[in-house]
Amino acid sequence: MTDLASLNAQALAAIDAAASLDALEAVRIETLGKQGSVTALLKSLGQMSPEERQTQGPAINGLREAVTSAIAAKKDALESAALNARLATERLDMTLPAPDAHAGSVHPVSQVMDELAEIFADMGFAVAEGPEIEDDWHNFTALNIPETHPARAMHDTFYFPEDAGEEAKQMLLRTHTSPVQIRTMLNQKPPIRVIAPGRVYRSDSDATHTPMFHQIEGLVIDKGIHMGHLKWTLETFLKAFFERDDVVLRLRPSYFPFTEPSAEVDVGYTLVNGKRVIGGSEGWMEVLGSGMVHPRVIAACGLDPNEYQGFAFGTGVDRLAMLKYGMDDLRAFFDGDLRWLKHYGFAALDVPTLSGGVGA
Ligand code: DAH
Repeated sequence: MTDLASLNAQALAAIDAAASLDALEAVRIETLGKQGSVTALLKSLGQMSPEERQTQGPAINGLREAVTSAIAAKKDALESAALNARLATERLDMTLPAPDAHAGSVHPVSQVMDELAEIFADMGFAVAEGPEIEDDWHNFTALNIPETHPARAMHDTFYFPEDAGEEAKQMLLRTHTSPVQIRTMLNQKPPIRVIAPGRVYRSDSDATHTPMFHQIEGLVIDKGIHMGHLKWTLETFLKAFFERDDVVLRLRPSYFPFTEPSAEVDVGYTLVNGKRVIGGSEGWMEVLGSGMVHPRVIAACGLDPNEYQGFAFGTGVDRLAMLKYGMDDLRAFFDGDLRWLKHYGFAALDVPTLSGGVGA
């Protein structure tokens, strides 16, 4: 029978002498591997008499444990020595200039919303807000779009399951910012001058439509308001936004349930090297929906339409950004591609001001 004590001493000496992880692995195979010396002893236990096994068993298992833990300890020591050796050779020169950290940029939609707020603040408009999860009444009914109205079908609405709303109201994702008109009239006394920028949702997706996009709504309610006020406001706004005095508007009769009369607003463009540039009147692009607030909408908000009149308008913020800054695929707005954001984004401190030239 092999002398356990000398085998133990031999194995520990070999482990101690192993100068590399490979050498240590070789010792492990020699002792604990399938054909290893310690493994052979463990196998021999099967042939022993019960009495013999009672004394030899603990001794052989003790040997296995001693060898196993010596290998583990040596492995740790070799690994940390290797790490220390690597750390000693790697140096960082702290005197080198740091690489440019990637600076975040302001998304064109945020930039355009800030530009709009700045332009309209100068005309005395406050910013109003409403919830993106709306109810049917604010989004449609109060805006003179009753349940059977075909305009409901045109909006591709995302509805919530019927029982999900509070007080059994039909809840939905607002399809436009127009419900903010209703909320403002219900909560504020005229005179009212607000814009309401925000997210809206429709089940639609292609190069010019995304299921979520941004609109801005404008609302003025006071006594003696007429379409002349509407036209002046839009003209002043679009000249400031496109930063050109030669912006020409064309108001086309149109239909919206919540305005009467209604007008779609086109802005004139000129072709320069085959590209459309805002200004002049070689061609026309539709930019806004607008009109005089329908008396029924005013009445739905508890105001007397014989006393108060007003105008409203609405447009897509993303579309305005595309026209002003020359992007052509709306989907890229919401892809979160850093290269796109770097190219079209604005510096964080590039806050739009009228004096500095909005958007400059
Ligand atoms: N809510 C309309 C839409 O989403 C846009 C609009 C048109 C808003 C005319 C208005 C308006 O306030 O007067 O298509």
